[in-house]
Amino acid sequence: MEIVLSGIRPTGHLHLGNYFGAMKSFLQLQEEYACFFFIADWHSLTTHPRPGNIVGSVREIIAEYLACGLDPEKVAIYVQSDVKEVLELYLYLNMNAYLGELERTTTFKEKARQQPDNVNAGLLTYPTLMAADILLHRARKVPVGKDQEQNMEMARRFARRFNTTYECELFPEPESFTFSRSAIKIPGLDGSGKMGKSEGNALYLVDDATTIRKKVMKAVTDNGPTEPNSTKPEVIQNLFTILEVVSAPEVYDHFNEQYNRCAIRYGDLKKQLAEDIVAFCTPIRERILEYASDATRIDKVAAQGADKARESASRTLREVRRTIGFRS
Ligand code: ADP
Ligand code: TRP
Repeated sequence: MEIVLSGIRPTGHLHLGNYFGAMKSFLQLQEEYACFFFIADWHSLTTHPRPGNIVGSVREIIAEYLACGLDPEKVAIYVQSDVKEVLELYLYLNMNAYLGELERTTTFKEKARQQPDNVNAGLLTYPTLMAADILLHRARKVPVGKDQEQNMEMARRFARRFNTTYECELFPEPESFTFSRSAIKIPGLDGSGKMGKSEGNALYLVDDATTIRKKVMKAVTDNGPTEPNSTKPEVIQNLFTILEVVSAPEVYDHFNEQYNRCAIRYGDLKKQLAEDIVAFCTPIRERILEYASDATRIDKVAAQGADKARESASRTLREVRRTIGFRS
């Protein structure tokens, strides 16, 4: 069966964009592929050398994954730092990764600019560790956003280079898995394009009703249409896009019709939108809190995932060692 691997850095809560953009596809993927979902906690040391309560942040993500419906019986949910096999592959890949190509990576140059006092070797070799994450399971499909394209290109290059150097076909080239058309780009409510953590405009699955209402009521709007059936400006279209994914079709049609008749009241639209987002998030939020209150259960899921990941990793490493010429 084809293998899918997804990695996430433990940098915060999941928002509606993550849910409709990625999680919904994950829920489908888990039915069709052998999936590994891991949390890249070692990667976070490249930017945060003292990661604070990293165990807590990792547990939070696992709780959110489970609350969204990822099933640990079907997929492996694991923590990067629990599966030390990846370090050995990282080492082999680094021996065949060149300074020039690593220095040319856009993300490296960007980070070097952002943290000039900490241009560390981990940052430089971020793409090799990421390639090791992927090649460790000989994954073929990797769901990633556009910003990861260059890292994916490096992973393919390292896979090819290994195969050429050692005259083998051990590693398949991993491809970026673009989500099907069902993945919708969720806009922010501040009129600034997409919803995102770093954009500071996110509605989080774990937000409570009051927080959601407050955020939605602050959404940017305009003075309203003056011509019937006019095209919606971006800020208004944004509200409708979210309405389309969280509300009933009748609700969407109702406000759309009001808009087309120039009779829309944005206050009403926002109130309804807020309530529908609350209704969507509340059951997920409740499950998140329930899982989050049970660290033992979370840790058991991670341990079970790590077992599966180690099994697959040691199979790969046995072949890698033998191929290079070490005792396997
Ligand atoms: P963020 O930093 O905003 O959480 P990430 O870049 O970490 O976003 O996103 C992880 C995944 O979630 C992406 O690969 C993408 O598929 C999805 N995603 C993020 N934001 C959105 C959005 N606004 N709309 C749709 N999908 C999104
Ligand atoms: N670099 C990815 C990000 O910033 C996280 C990541 C690390 C990853 N290793 C990976 C993603 C392996 C996919 C596969 O989002």
